[in-house]
Amino acid sequence: KKSEAWSARFSEPVSDLVKRYTASVFFDNRMAAFDIQGSLAHAEMLAAQNIINAQDYADIQRGMAQIKSEIDSGKFEWLLDLEDVHLNIEKRLTELVGDAGKRLHTGRSRNDQVATDIRLYVRSSIDTIVGLLGDLRLALLNLAEQHAETILPGFTHMQVAQPITFGHHMLAYVEMFSRDAERMQDCRKRVNRLPLGAAALAGTTFPIDRERVAKTLGFEDVCHNSLDAVSDRDFAIEFCAAAALIMTHVSRMSEELVIWMSPRVGFIDIADRFCTGSSIMPQKKNPDVPELARGKTGRVNGHLIALLTLMKGQPLAYNKDNQEDKEPLFDTVDTVVDTLRIFADMATGITVKADAMRAAALQGYATATDLADYLVKKGLPFRDAHEAVALAVRTCVDKGCDLSDMSLAELQQFSKLIGEDVFVVLTLEGSVAARDHIGGTAPNQVKAAIARARSKLD
Ligand code: ARG
Repeated sequence: KKSEAWSARFSEPVSDLVKRYTASVFFDNRMAAFDIQGSLAHAEMLAAQNIINAQDYADIQRGMAQIKSEIDSGKFEWLLDLEDVHLNIEKRLTELVGDAGKRLHTGRSRNDQVATDIRLYVRSSIDTIVGLLGDLRLALLNLAEQHAETILPGFTHMQVAQPITFGHHMLAYVEMFSRDAERMQDCRKRVNRLPLGAAALAGTTFPIDRERVAKTLGFEDVCHNSLDAVSDRDFAIEFCAAAALIMTHVSRMSEELVIWMSPRVGFIDIADRFCTGSSIMPQKKNPDVPELARGKTGRVNGHLIALLTLMKGQPLAYNKDNQEDKEPLFDTVDTVVDTLRIFADMATGITVKADAMRAAALQGYATATDLADYLVKKGLPFRDAHEAVALAVRTCVDKGCDLSDMSLAELQQFSKLIGEDVFVVLTLEGSVAARDHIGGTAPNQVKAAIARARSKLD
């Protein structure tokens, strides 16, 4: 049986192994809806330009509608023999509508066809991901709002640094995820160009109207060089880079959730539906979702490197290497979409243990900087203030007490400038409230930042 689209040129069929090796249909068929959309736009243009007639176009529309319903209902029979999604659909179209189906590929190649399909797929994935990043930010904003005043020790080097509010901490992730959305939107501009018309590599001899097809498919512009149009996948690489950054942010957050849920820390609990137990240790409740998200970051980073490596040695124009762009790209989309969905949901299942956070903030001299700032405001140069407080902390460490546990007289041993008003400064609430400027952790700044972030989301 001669089923290949190019069989007349060949004197023997490929082996089964080669057939399996070169076929992509069982993964690229996920682009079927975009393949049909692209073909219909191409056929509409061919008809408008009198390259095919109105009857052919009507037949192609009818056939594609039937194919679409066959695919949607799972009745479409995908054949390995027909290599990829493009040839499978074209072959079925010809079965259904005859010669009109055979005319569809006029002025087109699978090279510009597949590049178009991928761009449509990436564009739609970007829109989904931007929406999910919005959902996640909204969930984090709600959590931030509930805890605009909840004290949490802020860490540097994993050592207690200064008190912050939990709301402020959540807003840090809102910032990251909002940049991630911006990055995706920016990438979308470069994705949203039409390769069709480039044909195999050099363009076509038919009087095509590329702008018309671009308009039909919602592309902002056409790709301006046919060789570039069929061969570069930089837009997919850029997308994977933006996706890797999303996962990197998710992974940092995951790491914190895992630490916070450890009984040794006990800052939060995560709802049971996001955790699993142990098959041997009856007491265990493990934060599997954040751990797995942290782990899946590795796979998404890997896909980025895979695509960069795929591209780096390719001469112009199209090479079959590019068929390898799909699985990493698809898996990136699946992983990011699932992860964001789960995280938006999980954010609503986080219980904050404010008492434990507060108790931790009271250990580790979190308000030492406040004491130094206090002395500076009384006229001491900052370096001298730093030294005086360092000595005070050292004394506290020896005595096993906090700065605020010392009497005024004791504190005055470190500086005569210390007065009765120091004790407000040494409180956690005083410390956070004093950081009252844009981007600071003061509760009223946190509330203002939440309002700004919300209006950006609308
Ligand atoms: N399945 C191919 C791909 O994914 C479609 C383009 C094939 N073109 C070709 N000349 N072999 O890249």
